[in-house]
Amino acid sequence: MKDQLDKLRLNALELIGGLDDEKSLFDVRTRVLGRKGELTGFLRGLKDLPPKTRAEIGQLANLIKSELEQKIDEKQATIREKAEERKIGSEFLDVTLPGRRSIPGRTHILNRVTDELIQVFNGLGFQLAEGPEVELDYYNFEALNIPRDHPARDMQDTFYLSDNVVLRTHTSPVQIRTMELQKPPLRVICPGKVYRRDADITHSPMFMQIEGLWVDQGISLSDLKGVLTAFVQEYFGEKLGLRFRPSFFPFTEPSAEVDIQCVICGGEGCRTCSSTGWLEILGAGMVDPALYRFVDYDPEIYSGFAFGMGIERVAMLKYGIPDIRAFYENDVRFLNQF
Ligand code: PHE
Repeated sequence: MKDQLDKLRLNALELIGGLDDEKSLFDVRTRVLGRKGELTGFLRGLKDLPPKTRAEIGQLANLIKSELEQKIDEKQATIREKAEERKIGSEFLDVTLPGRRSIPGRTHILNRVTDELIQVFNGLGFQLAEGPEVELDYYNFEALNIPRDHPARDMQDTFYLSDNVVLRTHTSPVQIRTMELQKPPLRVICPGKVYRRDADITHSPMFMQIEGLWVDQGISLSDLKGVLTAFVQEYFGEKLGLRFRPSFFPFTEPSAEVDIQCVICGGEGCRTCSSTGWLEILGAGMVDPALYRFVDYDPEIYSGFAFGMGIERVAMLKYGIPDIRAFYENDVRFLNQF
């Protein structure tokens, strides 16, 4: 019996000595010391021995058991230590290497100008409103007093997605959407992308507009003039004058095109303003009472004004950018200037 135990011990020690991974070590532990293991089975068999031999062999077997347990534990520690060393070795960090520079992005110039405009109009009490770029014919035209087959549709060469769905040609549909949802008083500013079939150095098929709308009791043309003057002086400079030229839009009456004194020459006349001293920046007017029919407002009680301007145009004037295509080419040399 002693020989048997000795053999078991030597076998196990040899096995343990030759191992170098945790998984095999675990297997050996189970095979020898586990509940169905060799040594465990041996210990269980002791109860059939005469008491004297049982005590002697039992003592020996228990000694071997703790010896093996200790050896396995030691081996496990060594294996883990080696694994750790290997890991540290492979993750060696050369602190003398040059660092990797991370290049932070920045807000696109058009988004920045949009934010600036929103901020100025926020200051004048206008709240942000938005609408979809894929728009129903109804909001883009019908409810803005531009019926089907009306010649005014020619002013905006339109991308039709189907008979009733267009890419919005201006931000004015947000006027209708906002009035549908809210009763006056109402004062909103609505920036966003718009689309027209048009492309040259001052026109892009996709561009941005910002729309303003203020409806309440007793709003008049002088309020429109006051708001736009405050805006121009805040954004472009204290001394710039404004000029209203009579114009036509189906959704405003009366309508005007608004010019500001040239931001480059201050009104003297230069290349940018074609020597006129003036730059056109927006369309505006008093909301045509015909629109109130579509949104269930009483035109006897309420009046309002609306205006819309091209954000690229504003950005070009504010930052002296000569070609509208620069905004969309994504040339970082251009974008990095702002
Ligand atoms: N929607 C008009 C355009 O795109 C601009 C405009 C807006 C005019 C609001 C009057 C009032 O040309």
